[in-house]
Formats: sequence, structure tokens, C-alpha cells
Amino acid sequence: MIIVIAGKGGVGKTMVSSLLVRCIAELKEDAKILAIDADPASNFADALGTKPSMSIGELIENFANVKKVNFLDYLQQKISENTTHTEKFDFIEMGQGEGAGCYCSVNDVLRFVLEEKQKNYKFVIVDCAAGLEHLSRKTTTGADVLLIVTDLCEAGFRSAETIKKIAVNAGVKEDTMFLVINKVKNEENLKILKERIANTKILEICRIPYDENVAEYNACAIPLINLPPYSKAYIKIMELAKFLIG
Ligand SMILES: Nc1ncnc2c1ncn2[C@@H]1O[C@H](COP(=O)(O)OP(=O)(O)O)[C@@H](O)[C@H]1O
Ligand SMILES: [Mg+2]
Repeated sequence: MIIVIAGKGGVGKTMVSSLLVRCIAELKEDAKILAIDADPASNFADALGTKPSMSIGELIENFANVKKVNFLDYLQQKISENTTHTEKFDFIEMGQGEGAGCYCSVNDVLRFVLEEKQKNYKFVIVDCAAGLEHLSRKTTTGADVLLIVTDLCEAGFRSAETIKKIAVNAGVKEDTMFLVINKVKNEENLKILKERIANTKILEICRIPYDENVAEYNACAIPLINLPPYSKAYIKIMELAKFLIG
């Protein structure tokens, strides 16, 4: 099952992605899980408390120095070598790497990685870039679930609508797309929120409160995956994980 997490920058994609990894690992102890950081500006590894090996972008750049090897064979081998293994999940960082001399872009390779890895992992969780380039056919056609995250800002909702359009054009079925509303505070104007949600025409699947623990962990650079189990964000994402994977 491939779960893709998309949305505007800063809305909480990495928070949702990292807690989903944890919750799925807790719910399905024996399942193999792969976390993919597809956001060059991301901190998914930090949120997961892991250290990335060489990114796919770097591997692509290094290919220029490798002679007489088929690119896909090279990639397959190097991706395996550069997958980080932890007790609960594996991790790959796409990174950047479209410098001169590159054989192809990281985005092109993401699709290949997904196809390859889907065979070996029961769950693949992709933390997407804020830009919409990943939401091309290359990524989303394989997605079983597309979670579109937004906070309460209008711009987040606008992005959500654009992401939905791109995904629909790429052939993603609407019944696999869900809206996740994050950082909701008690004093929020619920009437406006309701209107904004309705305008997206995306089914709301999860509403996550503003969580002081998340803010504090981020401020202190503590991996979010270690949030205490009574944290509001963790509790909500556990509900989400149960819904998604049963
Ligand atoms: N539910 C929440 N409560 C409080 N702060 C949050 C919450 N979700 C995310 N944040 C904060 O918002 C910022 C952006 O979150 P992040 O997951 O990095 O977003 P993205 O990956 O979409 O750019 C971080 O500083 C994080 O601590
Ligand atoms: Mg992020």
C-alpha cells in the first residue's frame, strides 16, 4: 500500500508522515514499512530520528562517473545499498540532483523506486515536496491513498484544491483522496472552516488539533516519532492509521 502525503509547505506533512510510520509500525508489528522523503527541503529523517545514507539525487549524479553499467541496474543496486534500515522501518531520501550531466531527474526516478519497492514492502509512506512536481503521473498513479494536508490558512486550502486537480488529471481516483486538517485551535471559526472544507470537495478524514508537544519537539529538535502517546497529534493519527489499514 502506497500512502502519499501532499500539501503546502509548513502545513504538517512531515509531522503526519512520521507519526503515520510510527502508528502503522505499532498496528502491524511484522509489516515491512518504507518511508520515502520526496521533499528536497524536508526533515523527514529528523522527524523519524534516523540518518539518511546517500540520497537518490546523489546516486544519480554519481552515475556520471560510472562506466559501462546499465543505469537501471546501477540504480537498483545503489538504492538497496543506500536504504537506511531501522528496527521498525526502512528509509530512503530522494534529495536533489539535477546538476549538469545527470542522466535523469529525481522525479523520474521516484516512480521507479516506488515500483521496485512496492514489491518488498507492505507499506510505503511518501512525504512529498510542497511543490506540485511530485504529483505528476509519476508518483500518484501508484498511490493507494493520497492524503492532502492543510492547516487553517486559506493558502493551504487553495493548494489542496490544486493538488486534487493535478491528481485527478493524473488518473488518481477521487475516492482515494482525503483531506487532513491540521493545527486546529479551539478558538477557530468553525463556520469558515466548514465552508473551506466544503469548497475543496475532498472528503475530510482527520482533524488534528494544535499540539504543543509537536511544537516543542520541533523547537528542541527531538524526533517527532517519539512524541508521548497522550499527544493529541499522535492520538488522531493513530485513528487515521486504523482507518486506512484496518
Ligand atoms: N498539530 C500541530 N500542532 C502544533 N504544531 C504543528 C502541528 N503540526 C505541525 N506543526 C508545526 O508546523 C511546522 C511545520 O510542520 P511540518 O510537518 O514540517 O510541515 P511540512 O512538512 O508540511 O512543511 C513545524 O514547526 C511543526 O512543529
Ligand atoms: Mg516537510
